[in-house]
Amino acid sequence: MKVLVGSEFDIKNHFIDSFTHGARTYVVYSNRNRIYVFDSKCPHANGDLRAASYDGGFVVCPSHGLRFSLKNGEVDTNEIEDDFMKSILAKGVDKMRLKLLQVTIEKGNVYVELD
Ligand code: FES
Repeated sequence: MKVLVGSEFDIKNHFIDSFTHGARTYVVYSNRNRIYVFDSKCPHANGDLRAASYDGGFVVCPSHGLRFSLKNGEVDTNEIEDDFMKSILAKGVDKMRLKLLQVTIEKGNVYVELD
């Protein structure tokens, strides 16, 4: 189902940083002329990604600090030395992929494809 998120202007100027559809809330993030949309609940333990920080090409969860790639949603497993983080990753990173929604822009409006 194709859903309107908002205007490209509003998103790229950070007037829109999240939206709700049904029972779910999604984060809308714009950087370097690209727009990303993903579920506001962290795939690890539902941390609120509306409060995430961004580091290069990664979303950093505010709850436990896992980093998710904005390219493919995978958890960044590089240079993790913290034992707690290692214990999280030992449970399997495949289940913890951040699902990035497909974004399309038509006539200045931004849409995402929802299930
Ligand atoms: S809830 Fe996001 S890293 Fe744990």
